[in-house]
Amino acid sequence: MPASQNAEKNARMKTVKCANMSGMSHFVDQLSLDITITHGEGSYLFDATGKKYLDLIAGWCVGSVGWGNREIGAALEAEAKRGTYVPPFLGSVAREELATILTDSAPGHMEKVFPCVSGSEAVDMAIKCARAATGKDTILSIQNVYQGHTYGAASVGDAHRRITGPVVAGFEYLPMPGRDADSAAILETLEKRLKKGDVAAFMSEPVWTNAGAYVPPADFYPAVQQLCRAHDALLVMDEVATGFGRCGTLFGSELWNLEPDVLCIAKAFTGGYASMGATLVSNKVYGRCKGIPCYSTFGWLPTDLAATTANVKIIVREKLWVNAKTVGEYFLSLLKPLEKLPAVKEVRGIGMLFAIELSDDLQAMDVQKQCADAGVIVETIGNALFCTPHLTLTKKEAEEGAGVIRKIVS
Ligand SMILES: Cc1ncc(COP(=O)(O)O)c(C=O)c1O
Repeated sequence: MPASQNAEKNARMKTVKCANMSGMSHFVDQLSLDITITHGEGSYLFDATGKKYLDLIAGWCVGSVGWGNREIGAALEAEAKRGTYVPPFLGSVAREELATILTDSAPGHMEKVFPCVSGSEAVDMAIKCARAATGKDTILSIQNVYQGHTYGAASVGDAHRRITGPVVAGFEYLPMPGRDADSAAILETLEKRLKKGDVAAFMSEPVWTNAGAYVPPADFYPAVQQLCRAHDALLVMDEVATGFGRCGTLFGSELWNLEPDVLCIAKAFTGGYASMGATLVSNKVYGRCKGIPCYSTFGWLPTDLAATTANVKIIVREKLWVNAKTVGEYFLSLLKPLEKLPAVKEVRGIGMLFAIELSDDLQAMDVQKQCADAGVIVETIGNALFCTPHLTLTKKEAEEGAGVIRKIVS
């Protein structure tokens, strides 16, 4: 989220006095709700008092198949019993199996996989690949978005750079089409910049999730892809948040018929049952960046691998992006009429990704608290409510969530 909004949110959190469980928390600054979760089941979370909440954030694009999934639990248990760590320099049947599923299902011609433990690491690796493969330094991206917390990833999305100081050199930012400027004007600037010949990649998300669920104008990405190809720059798609069904397609890149050269994944890839990410590249890119160091000690740990593989198999087998699209459209249709209320500026979204932008009359964090009191968990971005439910959300659950939100903002 943009730096100013983040600072504002942190300041408010400190005043919320959310030392949950009577001062037990050591993470006070990160908590905006005074709730301690003990477990989850499907689309619901339960707190330490036994209260049930409809979870409309699902770990911020992480949850996909629902909490407490038995199939994933069994896979985890079986692997934990085997209890064997396989270092990256030794082969693993399980690693190969998942890599094959990924390269077979990813858009474009993905043939090689760099394993890691998080979305930020996946983005860092993509920066290294783009620079090594092209021999160029400059990376272009969109301003005021979030693409991770490590210095490399925080430099791509520049949301945090004003807080963390000088970022990694070589990044330049374009305004967000549709929100900040006209798509055609941005494409013109992009073309001029690419013509200088020093750009390694254009790197961004297919839908701008953390900026507040902004869907690009339909003409934007196809033109970006064409321009990148024409000027020997790579197209890097950060699908950490949009991948694995979130946008109503298996990958968000499919929305714009993109064939990225490099793809970053994490979050819903694991369903929240593991800590894993990956950077996927084509053989062509890999051939040009072969020697770059990539050794992640805990990247694709066997237990994480077992859980993630089980999660991915469920998403693919059940085609959960179809539910994300149909129930997502239904949920959006229930929320859209809120735009008529003076307290609501805009309702937007795609698949299972939504933002309800509030006017100055209403504070998103107050609404978030009231929703939680009423048994529904939502997040906030700036002065918007943000929802990224599980891909398995049912119509009945969508009605329950929309009903509570509607009542509180009305
Ligand atoms: C688009 C995007 N990229 C990268 C990241 C970083 O992922 P992680 O928190 O797993 O490091 C995030 C996290 O929110 C994200 O939304």
